[in-house]
Amino acid sequence: MTARRLLLLGAPGAGKGTQAERLVRKLGIPQISTGDMLRAAVAAGTEVGKGARAAMDRGELVSDEIVIGVAEERLSQDDARGGFVLDGFPRTDAQARALDAMLERMGTPLERCVALEVDTDELVRRLLKRAGIEGRSDDNEETIRNRMRVYRDQTAPLVAYYRERGLLREVEAAGPVEEIEKRIEEALS
Ligand code: AP5
Repeated sequence: MTARRLLLLGAPGAGKGTQAERLVRKLGIPQISTGDMLRAAVAAGTEVGKGARAAMDRGELVSDEIVIGVAEERLSQDDARGGFVLDGFPRTDAQARALDAMLERMGTPLERCVALEVDTDELVRRLLKRAGIEGRSDDNEETIRNRMRVYRDQTAPLVAYYRERGLLREVEAAGPVEEIEKRIEEALS
């Protein structure tokens, strides 16, 4: 049986969004991307967006308080009852603990954390390529460097957090998207 309450963990550019989209199509569960939700809030000019914008433009993390609120609201919606793919949340120890607490309250604990592993040169190559195509405001060289640093310092320790809980599967995430998709499928079975 395939796990359905999932978290994709990985550095900026590791392919969390790309692989989450494939999983949701296959499993019929929602993708919960705090990055996408925050970008939508910035574009709509909401209070959440106003609180998030400056940190996002610098490649820093948005405050735990804002992000946990956004994630909790989304996870409590009906379509997440049968499973979900978390993409970009949690990113700090406090967020991981808040997620555990909220899922425990809902009686739907996380089943698997897939860590996508890609070397830094390839990550930077991917993001600079996307910068030329999509023009995302945080895809410039200086901000990308900061996002990598923030990932290493604040998010990478979550690999150990999920390993200790027996939920971690590490997946080599360089190469063709379809091959990585197959490796993830195996990691979920
Ligand atoms: P977020 O939107 O989560 O950005 P990120 O983690 O930097 O992730 P990316 O979207 O850059 O990469 P990805 O791993 O999803 O890869 P993707 O599939 O897109 O967060 C943005 C900001 O929001 C944060 O910096 C922070 O400020 C804030 N934020 C969000 N969540 C937060 C939280 N929980 N707490 C606090 N702040 C938060 O792929 C990247 C590129 O590579 C694409 O062009 C893709 O086509 C390409 N690609 C993918 N796979 C491959 C492959 N196998 N080969 C070649 N190219 C590939």
